Amino acid sequence: MGSSFHLEGTPYADAAYPQVMETYDAIMTRRSVGKTTGERPDKDVILKLIRAAVAAPNHHLTEPWRFVVLSGSALEEFGDAWATGAEREGKDPAGPKEKALRAPVIIVVIERPKGHLPKVIEVEEHYAVGAAMQNALLAAHEMGLAAMLRTGPAAHIKECHDFLELGDHELVAGYISVGFPPEGFKPGAPRKTPAEELTEWRGWDE
Ligand SMILES: Cc1cc2nc3c(=O)[nH]c(=O)nc-3n(C[C@H](O)[C@H](O)[C@H](O)COP(=O)(O)O)c2cc1C
Repeated sequence: MGSSFHLEGTPYADAAYPQVMETYDAIMTRRSVGKTTGERPDKDVILKLIRAAVAAPNHHLTEPWRFVVLSGSALEEFGDAWATGAEREGKDPAGPKEKALRAPVIIVVIERPKGHLPKVIEVEEHYAVGAAMQNALLAAHEMGLAAMLRTGPAAHIKECHDFLELGDHELVAGYISVGFPPEGFKPGAPRKTPAEELTEWRGWDE
């Protein structure tokens, strides 16, 4: 994944960056990193994450996504919108304002499902967007960034939707926070059921 050699001669050549990890290693070592130093990654780095997202498979090439990158004052405005919504729901508005500023960048992944088109199956639009978000998380991990996907109340609060200027048929698929991991940051051990326990092999040992 991501070596400049492999991207040479492709439309993505200008997106090349040094490969520091094999794909499988990146998949197996990626973790959600919600804490960041506050230092903002460069714009071209954020664009590379979005390029990785839009490289995801999507049935009928519906491209059911668009992206809004929030940083600086936009993060504060987002926090204000979220806080207004929380207050309206009788919750403490302090939390959202703080949470909006946990990382220097949030990539808002907006899904535009095209289930109304012939042959397009709505749930497959969700799968495609999930794949896109995972692509971005893996690319971030490979580049040594801290990244985390969150949904939570901000994905549903009307004030957040208004701030993002969501269209009638759009939804917030997730918020990907991006920054640099704090020095010496180590995530806890992963709590995942081993693949062996989740897999049934049929017709394999015949
Ligand atoms: C669709 C989706 C939504 C998520 N939303 C949240 C969230 O709102 N808050 C949160 O703390 N983590 C959220 N997560 C991250 C998961 O908690 C995290 O992936 C899980 O704990 C496994 O940890 P890992 O990513 O380090 O393997 C979300 C993950 C996915 C896939």
